[in-house]
Amino acid sequence: MGRLDGKVAIVTGGASGIGAATVERFIEEGAAVVIADLAEAAGEEIVARHGASVRFCHVDVTREDEVAAAVDAAVAAFGRLDVMVNNAGIIGAVGPIADTSEAAYDTTIGVLLKGVFLGTKHAARVMMPQGSGSIISTASTAGIVGGLGPHLYTAAKHAVVGFTKSVANELGPQGIRVNAVAPGSTLTPMVTTLRRDEPMDDAVVAERLASRCLLGAAVMPVDIANGIVYLASEEARFVTGHCLVIDAGQTTSGTAAHQFHNGEQR
Ligand SMILES: NC(=O)c1ccc[n+]([C@@H]2O[C@H](COP(=O)([O-])OP(=O)(O)OC[C@H]3O[C@@H](n4cnc5c(N)ncnc54)[C@H](O)[C@@H]3O)[C@@H](O)[C@H]2O)c1
Repeated sequence: MGRLDGKVAIVTGGASGIGAATVERFIEEGAAVVIADLAEAAGEEIVARHGASVRFCHVDVTREDEVAAAVDAAVAAFGRLDVMVNNAGIIGAVGPIADTSEAAYDTTIGVLLKGVFLGTKHAARVMMPQGSGSIISTASTAGIVGGLGPHLYTAAKHAVVGFTKSVANELGPQGIRVNAVAPGSTLTPMVTTLRRDEPMDDAVVAERLASRCLLGAAVMPVDIANGIVYLASEEARFVTGHCLVIDAGQTTSGTAAHQFHNGEQR
């Protein structure tokens, strides 16, 4: 028996990295999944491998009409919505604060915070009448301490943790749990392409990441996906308003500060 048997989920940013690993783990555990992402080719490739239990929906998480349509599409296709994973993300603005533009602010906060707000709002819209649901947003260790990401990324991820705790208070009495995961540096395209036109070799990046954490190995997308499966499942039925840090000891050891604001690469 799967841990998510019969559940219906939406994963934003489900076409790559942590989101794609989450989609794969959700399917393994018996869920039906809608991938909500901009990356159509990558999303459709996942659908082609899995068939009828997965759908792709072209969604920009900064657009309320598109997020609302994805939620409605999930309900139309599978009859309900049990799990909303607000995971789509970008690094956004990098560099010194004095050089950061208003446009870069709007883009970064738009994807990382407005996207989570819209996903949560529209998931709640259909979960409230059901009287059940689990909403999980991808924060970051940059949402726990400063110095692990660029300024606006750090601000948005702290806001995701606060938003999660606030909404958990409203929706808990209605049977809906609201949680976050905070990945440490994880081997995904977001990290391997950071400030580069061509992705760096995975093995090289994995070695760098491993050197910065207590447990001596790079965190992989499936490690974060496993935490999301737990929060989505009945095993976490008394867990709400929580931010689950999965970082191989990065924040505990304090060894990981990256000087994004000085323009250095990690
Ligand atoms: N990789 C890490 O080290 C790390 C660490 C902490 C937190 N995170 C967070 O994990 C989440 C997933 O990141 P990842 O590392 O898997 O990156 P990724 O680049 O592999 O995947 C991000 C996905 O989000 C999608 N996306 C971007 N903007 C979108 C938009 N406006 N609408 C819809 N989809 C959009 C992209 O198309 C892509 O498929 C992000 O929220 C990121 O901030 C990543």
